[in-house]
Amino acid sequence: MVVDDRENGLFRVNRKAFLDDEVLAMERDRIFSRCWLFLGHASELPNPNDFVTRNVGGKEIIFNRDRKGEFHAFLNTCPHRGAMVERQEAGNSLGFRCFYHGWAFNNNGSYATRHQPGTYPENFNHDGCANLVQVKLEHYRDFYFINYDNGANSLDSYLADAKLVLDIIDQHGPNGMEVAGGAQKYSIRSNWKLLMENSYDGYHAMDTHETYFKYLADAIGGPAELPKVTNVMNLKNGHAAIEGDAPWGRPVAKWIPAWGEKAKTEVDEIKREVISRVGVEQANRICQLGRNTGIFPNLVINDIMAITVRTFYPVEPGLMNVTAWALGVKGESRDFRKRRLDNFLEFLGPGGFATPDDVEALESAYRGYAAHQLAPWNDISRGLSRGAGEPFRADDEEQMRCFWREWDRRMGGE
Ligand code: FES
Ligand code: FE
Repeated sequence: MVVDDRENGLFRVNRKAFLDDEVLAMERDRIFSRCWLFLGHASELPNPNDFVTRNVGGKEIIFNRDRKGEFHAFLNTCPHRGAMVERQEAGNSLGFRCFYHGWAFNNNGSYATRHQPGTYPENFNHDGCANLVQVKLEHYRDFYFINYDNGANSLDSYLADAKLVLDIIDQHGPNGMEVAGGAQKYSIRSNWKLLMENSYDGYHAMDTHETYFKYLADAIGGPAELPKVTNVMNLKNGHAAIEGDAPWGRPVAKWIPAWGEKAKTEVDEIKREVISRVGVEQANRICQLGRNTGIFPNLVINDIMAITVRTFYPVEPGLMNVTAWALGVKGESRDFRKRRLDNFLEFLGPGGFATPDDVEALESAYRGYAAHQLAPWNDISRGLSRGAGEPFRADDEEQMRCFWREWDRRMGGE
């Protein structure tokens, strides 16, 4: 499926990788059942007994804190006959109760059902048959991930150098970050891997998003240019990022005239605080630079203006469900939170300037794959021949090749 032929200047992916039901079945088995998948952010559960529910990699999950405040991830399926034990999207509850026959559970997963005497055998194994099934859960900083493979290596080793990006994100504010507002959910009629590619594709921006750049030129009072890219980061294990100077307004320390003079003082203050806390070099990466990061297989963090976190899962080869959250600095001013949320909606939101254009590109590509027998290959060779020591540029396609090499390795090179 993946041809990585540096000698002949060629890196390409067979379009069957996007089309085949068999490939998707293998992905469910070899990728979504074995990789660490992003579950949620600690700020979504600020109090004991808080919970959220979501579908992660095709399985219904409860992400919650118990009475003692411990974090858990449970399969949201009743051990009796499978119905969901929690159907709300979020809440605060001491336990869960299945609506089908009424089995009940404490929020640490243990069964709390009182059966009438004589209904179940004396030796019925409640612990083995009646507790909620816990899923392997680990976190790095406030980012929680699950793994359906109980034998999986630690999250820490899996994330490898992607931790550097999570550090940068978390250090935007003195007290960390929080999910700001709710989630955006939408579907795209295309293959999930195309959104991964698109999320750190520096090559498409000026063409696909022409309308946005025109709007931006007005907003910032000058020509909107692509960021001068300073870095393509191979973060190992299939994770990668493109990093560049953020020429536009950033809620953290990049002022633009459209925000007015008062905001300028606030921005300077924010910047001073960040420098005093993390030093000049790291502060520069936080305040001046932005990055689009892909954490294998499907966590994207676009830290360019607002910070957008997205995951997306295949429903079918040609259909994915996307969820996006905005992260904001805990305790930031109302004005800055508003700017951040405006930007979250206005750029990468489903009705924003960027996402509808990207969706159109991804859906049109997918329609093109109907002719895969006659046109079987996608090309990802841009920048492939850069020599040792010559840095990759963000409008190269090295970050995507990082993804595809890992994808191919996990799929067994078949
Ligand atoms: Fe949950 Fe029967 S399926 S109580
Ligand atoms: Fe785009």
